[in-house]
Amino acid sequence: MTRLWVIVIFLATHLLQGCESLQWTQKVEDGEQFTRCTGQDVTFPWRYSLEEGDDVAGVSWSRQRQGGKEVNLASLFFLKFTPNQERISHVNESGIKVTSLTTDDTASYSISVRLGGGGGVERQTIHLLVAEKPETVSGSLEVVVAETRSNKSHDHGSTDQHQQLKCGQFVSLGSPPVSVMWEDPDGKLLPSSDYQDGFFILNLTEGRKGGNYYCLMNLSSTAVGCLSETSALRDKAMVGVLKSQTSTSSASMGGGTVAGIIIAVLIIVALVVVAVVFFLKFKRGKSYSPKEPESPGPDKETEEMLKALPSSV
Ligand SMILES: *[C@@H]1O[C@H](CO)[C@@H](O)[C@H](O)[C@H]1NC(C)=O
Ligand SMILES: *[C@@H]1O[C@H](CO)[C@@H](O)[C@H](O)[C@H]1NC(C)=O
Ligand SMILES: *[C@@H]1O[C@H](CO)[C@@H](O)[C@H](O)[C@H]1NC(C)=O
Ligand SMILES: *[C@@H]1O[C@H](CO)[C@@H](O)[C@H](O)[C@H]1NC(C)=O
Repeated sequence: MTRLWVIVIFLATHLLQGCESLQWTQKVEDGEQFTRCTGQDVTFPWRYSLEEGDDVAGVSWSRQRQGGKEVNLASLFFLKFTPNQERISHVNESGIKVTSLTTDDTASYSISVRLGGGGGVERQTIHLLVAEKPETVSGSLEVVVAETRSNKSHDHGSTDQHQQLKCGQFVSLGSPPVSVMWEDPDGKLLPSSDYQDGFFILNLTEGRKGGNYYCLMNLSSTAVGCLSETSALRDKAMVGVLKSQTSTSSASMGGGTVAGIIIAVLIIVALVVVAVVFFLKFKRGKSYSPKEPESPGPDKETEEMLKALPSSV
């Protein structure tokens, strides 16, 4: 039945393209996107004009959520408007109004006008996004520094501390869900590392900068647009962070110093060895110098030593 109806609409719209006895006169385009916030109303201002002699057999309005079926919302036959859903009313010719919006009302809304005398169906669609504002426990953003120690580094005997900044606490992220960004002391924007239990988290790295960090929301995001102009959630929250730091850095400096001392000792030992060897050689060279002409002498000695070697091994 619905398939037949779809085929009828398809054929009708294609056959109609030539004659255009119906003209849409509203200001919005077919396929346009509307954005509203929860609790607000929306009006789809559809209007049309007909050529003389044409008439309309009936009008119907429908809604289709993403991935869902098309559902009839209301119809108009013989000048009688019949809503099939709550919160829907008829405005100005062929417009409809939906009041007290919820995020569930996010959908595509269409109007179909059936022309009299087998004239076919004309259709227009508007996509509606119903956004919801985010909410925090205190009504503003609050940011704290949290320290975390990992067990791993305890096994290694060092005190490896990780610092995190936590911003929140959110009761609801709104819709579409918001996230917070971070601004470091240089004014560079950083994304959050994580979201846990209502808090957005920024992991601070070892080589971090000291100074003021800010947690803030993107004021251009759709859900933030649903906050009142004076909402404290629109303001940045600030926290001071010390420069990368104390235990971890001094521990690594200590390691460096120890290594430096060891290297220095090794170098001194090496120099002493070289000096002693040089000294001995110099002494030996001096004592041999008178015998230098009698080169066969030492050679015989060496030969004897070499002969003696295998037996000793
Ligand atoms: C109905 O149309 C008139 C004229 O365009 C307009 O002034 C009025 O605001 C419309 N009413 C609604 C409820 O849209
Ligand atoms: C760290 O150690 C404590 C106690 O030894 C343990 O309860 C905790 O689960 C450990 N944490 C991690 C992340 O391993
Ligand atoms: C942030 O730090 C925590 C704890 O130190 C760690 O479990 C998590 O994986 C880190 N996240 C990122 C993105 O680095
Ligand atoms: C803020 O949101 C707008 C709209 O969603 C987006 O275009 C822009 O890139 C965002 N800015 C940042 C810094 O993420």
